[in-house]
Amino acid sequence: MPLSRRRFLEAVALAATAVPLGACAGAHRVTTIGTASFDRPLPIPPVAPARHAADGARVFDLTARVGQRTFRPGRVTETWGYNGDYLGPTLRAARGERVRINVHNALPETTSVHWHGMHLPAAADGGPHQPVEPGRTWSPSWTIDQPATTLWYHPHPHGRTEKHVYRGLAGLFIVDDQPAEVLDLPGTYGVDDIPVIIQDKRFHDDGSFDESDHRPTGLLGDTLLVNGVVTPHLVVTSRLVRLRLLNASTARIYRLGFADDRSFTLIGTDGALLARPHEMDRIQLSPAERAEIVVRMRPADHVELQSYPPRLGTPHDVTTEVGGFDSFGVLELRGARSLTASPPIPAVLADVPRLEPADAGSARTFWLAGRRINGKKMDMDRIDDVVAAGSTETWEVTNLDELPHNFHIHGVQFQALTVDRAPPPPPLTGWKDTIYLPPRVPTQLIMRFAEYTDPAMPYMYHCHLLFHEDTGMMGQYVTVEPGQQPNTSVGPQHHHH
Ligand code: C2O
Ligand code: CU
Ligand code: CU
Repeated sequence: MPLSRRRFLEAVALAATAVPLGACAGAHRVTTIGTASFDRPLPIPPVAPARHAADGARVFDLTARVGQRTFRPGRVTETWGYNGDYLGPTLRAARGERVRINVHNALPETTSVHWHGMHLPAAADGGPHQPVEPGRTWSPSWTIDQPATTLWYHPHPHGRTEKHVYRGLAGLFIVDDQPAEVLDLPGTYGVDDIPVIIQDKRFHDDGSFDESDHRPTGLLGDTLLVNGVVTPHLVVTSRLVRLRLLNASTARIYRLGFADDRSFTLIGTDGALLARPHEMDRIQLSPAERAEIVVRMRPADHVELQSYPPRLGTPHDVTTEVGGFDSFGVLELRGARSLTASPPIPAVLADVPRLEPADAGSARTFWLAGRRINGKKMDMDRIDDVVAAGSTETWEVTNLDELPHNFHIHGVQFQALTVDRAPPPPPLTGWKDTIYLPPRVPTQLIMRFAEYTDPAMPYMYHCHLLFHEDTGMMGQYVTVEPGQQPNTSVGPQHHHH
């Protein structure tokens, strides 16, 4: 369903009034290429210990709390983290396992924890309808039922998500499954299978986070952290190393590649391994997107992972203002003098059934403009869309602003059917939950909604540039039995234990 001309013009007018663009005195190009020191070793987030409850569930404990970290010599920063001072442990569970996570809030304000990319009941999703008050514990539980992949978790409190993530609340959630287990891919966590959580920060001279530099897309930093450390290095001991890349930044978009332009192999995107490996030399990640890549190393090799100016598709002045010409040293890979052999990357990675438009029922249209979706700002008490459990739908999503946006849907993974009316490029052929939206490029997604129904509890869809999400660019859908009516009074529900 294409946009009607009237709605298109309305949206353009809205975009023009709501987002003043123009000269920003502070906007200049940032580059740390050539100056990044890579002197600190890359820390690996610990795998969270789990215990088995009487009902068989795998139980994790997460406490969100205040901490302190020295990111730069002699400067102490007040941070937030899960079970530690900054970021959180890696949660890990296999398809078919039941998990329960005790989320305790030791912060001075209300938070929530959302399991980004997970198929689960809406009441366990951890969005703005599952706030966790200070001093309280929330214990959602669900059965893992999706392919092996790299998901993540982060706060989602209404209107405060950008601040909570920026201060350090984020972690990985790795899903395993049997078919991936038996594949010959680098898979020893922390040895040849490495989490790489990329974030940008800006600091005041006294060491504290500078949360004041809001561009039209939100907070932008001039210092890159990987796994919570400024531009570290990793000693690689094998021929092949797998990097699980996560853009956990609040606004910045990265275009990652190696300084010597060596190619790497893309093996997975947000929601699963790809059907087949894909050789490439740059991968762009907007906030919340993940990519799993395999890099080939030679003995005593030193190569720098860098971020190059992304392809935003925005006008030149906008690109300048949102940091689109910035470049960064990210992580240096240092090959050991002798490397252990790695088996070649399998030619077939996963079974990725293509969803067929012929099977789709509803086709919906979403346009993003002026911190609104379809002209509406997020309202916790309004259900925007009602979908039937188990149904397949196509969603056409278009960014009508001149600014970058992306689009994330809770509760499902989708496939890109078309981008600008053409078949998607190979990196967009796998399962995704977040996709970049260049201005004026219609993007058609296809998805099959899960069986979980809850007429009273919505899932979110939104721009994952967190400043946009916090200021209204978010909507809500509920999944119901076919023909069932949604319950329209959906104020926040408070869970107390
Ligand atoms: Cu990463 Cu609404 O989520
Ligand atoms: Cu999400
Ligand atoms: Cu946006």
